[in-house]
Amino acid sequence: MSDMNYLSAVTEAQKAGVAIGHFNISNLEGLWGIFQAAKTVAVPVIIGVSEGEREFIGIRQARALVDSIRDEFSYPIWLNADHTYTFEGVKAVVDAGYDSVIFDGSKLPLAENIKITKQCVDYAKAKNPDILVEGELGYIGTSSKLLDEIPDEVVASASAVTPELALEFVQQTGVDFLSPAVGNLHGMLKGKSNPNLNISRIKAIVEAVKIPLVLHGGSGISDEDFKQAIKAGIAIVHINTEIRLAFASAVKKSFQDNPDEIAPYRLMKPAVNQIAKVTADRLRLFSGKENA
Ligand code: G3H
Ligand code: ZN
Repeated sequence: MSDMNYLSAVTEAQKAGVAIGHFNISNLEGLWGIFQAAKTVAVPVIIGVSEGEREFIGIRQARALVDSIRDEFSYPIWLNADHTYTFEGVKAVVDAGYDSVIFDGSKLPLAENIKITKQCVDYAKAKNPDILVEGELGYIGTSSKLLDEIPDEVVASASAVTPELALEFVQQTGVDFLSPAVGNLHGMLKGKSNPNLNISRIKAIVEAVKIPLVLHGGSGISDEDFKQAIKAGIAIVHINTEIRLAFASAVKKSFQDNPDEIAPYRLMKPAVNQIAKVTADRLRLFSGKENA
């Protein structure tokens, strides 16, 4: 698997009716947990860092950490600069050698979204022809957290992305991947399931754009919806809130159960294990390797 190419892996996944998992990290514990899970299920994996996450880790430090795993274990693991809201932000991660980047102009007027996404694609490809650029259409919220209710703007954009609009966006920007709003949202609703995805819309958009589709807001989506969405052509699935929840619950419990412990590596170990468990369950579902 070590010499696997990022774009080919995603394209092949889409053809095979499976998806590659994208999981966000804020620290080394997250990276170890996710890598441990990917190795257990024996699938490639994408590590995501949002603007806030990479500000905390360090833009170049995130690159170095993922490189260290890729090199030491000869493992297909890629680094994505998740939701990036400005051209300058995209430029910084392209210059730092990230494998992929998302310009998120989903809150901007369409013409502005197209204009800046194209500017990002042009800059990124001129600097690194292998880098992959993703564009966003339709607002699905911005926070990977527990929600009391679905934000109004998210409800309004749930069916706004038509196949025609998606095709126009892809043709005018030249993006490698597209993430459309298809009933998904960032974050997880407290005490109830997230809304169902619009599977027929996913199919229609895939047929129109003919590039891999990315599903954001994976946390809280039912297994059945995931299966259908991936069969319909979703090639990458993003998960963050479930990872954050696993981390925070494990750390809280660890501190409560061990009031005299002060060694960070002992206190944080359960968080690594919990992240690995949540990630492995999702990777089994996305890859169809239910018994791995
Ligand atoms: O880009 C990150 C994701 O789309 C994560 O969404 O926190 O709802 O899983 P989530
Ligand atoms: Zn997202």
